[in-house]
Amino acid sequence: MASSTLICDTEQWKDLKAHVDDIKKTHLRELMSDTQRCNSMMVEFDGILLDYSRQCATLETMDKLFKLAEAAGLKGKINRMFNGERINSTENRCVLHVALRAPRDAVINCDGKNTVPDVWQVLDKIREFSERVRSGSWVGATGKPLKDVVAIGIGGSFLGPLFVHTALQTDPEASEFARGRQLRFLANVDPIDVARNITGLNPETTLVVVVSKTFTTAETMLNARTIREWISSALGPEAVAKHMVAVSTNLTLVEQFGIDPNNAFAFWDWVGGRYSVCSAVGVLPLSLQYGFSVVEKYRLSYFLVSFGKTDAVDTRFLQGASSIDKHFYSAPFDKNIPVLLGLLSIWNVSFLGHPARVSMESNGKGVSIDGVPLPYESGEIDFGEPGTNGQHSFYQLIHQGRVVPCDFIGVVKSQQPVYLKGEVVSNHDELMSNFFAQPDALAYGKTPQQLQHENVPHHLIPHKTFPGNRPSLSLLLPSLSAYNIGQLLAMYEHRIAVEGFIWGINSFDQWGVELGKSLASQVRKQLHASRKKGEPVEGFNFSTTTMMKRYLEGSAD
Ligand code: F6P
Repeated sequence: MASSTLICDTEQWKDLKAHVDDIKKTHLRELMSDTQRCNSMMVEFDGILLDYSRQCATLETMDKLFKLAEAAGLKGKINRMFNGERINSTENRCVLHVALRAPRDAVINCDGKNTVPDVWQVLDKIREFSERVRSGSWVGATGKPLKDVVAIGIGGSFLGPLFVHTALQTDPEASEFARGRQLRFLANVDPIDVARNITGLNPETTLVVVVSKTFTTAETMLNARTIREWISSALGPEAVAKHMVAVSTNLTLVEQFGIDPNNAFAFWDWVGGRYSVCSAVGVLPLSLQYGFSVVEKYRLSYFLVSFGKTDAVDTRFLQGASSIDKHFYSAPFDKNIPVLLGLLSIWNVSFLGHPARVSMESNGKGVSIDGVPLPYESGEIDFGEPGTNGQHSFYQLIHQGRVVPCDFIGVVKSQQPVYLKGEVVSNHDELMSNFFAQPDALAYGKTPQQLQHENVPHHLIPHKTFPGNRPSLSLLLPSLSAYNIGQLLAMYEHRIAVEGFIWGINSFDQWGVELGKSLASQVRKQLHASRKKGEPVEGFNFSTTTMMKRYLEGSAD
């Protein structure tokens, strides 16, 4: 396919379009009765089981999707990413988050330079620093050990680390290492969030990590200045050197801010902000909380995994991600979990017309990577909830209203098993009963005939009828260990890349978020000019002008 040709102009895309009507005629009830099909739609890798049999798709659909992948040059694009080519063309950057979790002796070049030694230099520095803080050999300005950490960052400099922390804090092994320590995240610029974050913390025993790729993000820098003030007003300005460290690609700005460059942990422009959890962005705060050993790659285990001895794997976060990277790079498409996830997303969004998914981003572009306007949508709206929370809120809509393809993610072993005496099943069994039941409820639905058979009163039959035929896929993980969390994150990162490679967009830039940022900067200037110099609000539309005036009047000192 020529690089400026849109994927929708290929024969393979048109073939899939023509195939939609056949699929729409077939209910999932029928598809699910074909055991051979269902068996072919189960894929297992390194302890993870993917079941995509409840997708509105047949083996013929999958075959057509693999052909589409071929037409889009998916394999070549994956290779170009791993080979360090500048596939983020709008920013002229390589896309190498996979190097962040590669073993120490791997070679992953960017512009002919091996990136792996630099990655390991930072990892070694994190290991040393986090051990000093945790052991109490690094102390605060008043000589007290630093037991609490506030990580300040937003977007990709926040969400990934928060996600991993949320999983690890209840993991028996990891939480054991976190005893007596707290990790908090400050992202939002609302002053209430600052207040919530520092409540109960003592500046004398708090270490602050400012996490910002650019070190210019308005919210993060304002929060960093606010917390710097909190520390220096309590302990004096010299205390900042002992209580604040940074993670950034911009070490010059880190120094200008007043943080000792020796206490800055670097990453590189070839790590996209939204793909940065495996860099110092995630590894530093998580190592401070849980110890470096929970997040590191463990050389020996990696070696064993390479030889298929998966029972010997270690439970480490980066190593889990690395295992999925190898799988994504080398597995054939019909056995490749991230590729399958990506292709099924394309099928749901671009062919079946389902714009949302209950379940990372930088997709959703309006133009192709060559700047050609797209006549199709190139992303989905993701949302979701843990456990059965969703069941008691939006599941009504997904069962009877609009069709929203779902990802169900379950784990075999609970981190905190509870067996109450006298209960029929354990608490985890109760949770998992829903994991197994909901996909079938969505797929099969309930017919009026079944309801009649159950003697449901006639007037309630329309209300209790469920059309079914609602696609979902299920991922079953062995546990929520650091290793499995690493795998899960890497699978979803690669899924986004697969979708972008097929839709022909750049999944690694994010121009779309810039407009809001520049408009906020105009508003900020106006607020300053009106408050400090009494200048009138001008240059905004009627609505914004009226709201801003009201705000300025109501919040004047
Ligand atoms: O607004 C989007 C974004 O640029 C993300 O990609 C990034 O993770 C976030 O803002 C924060 O940026 P930074 O790490 O440079 O502060």
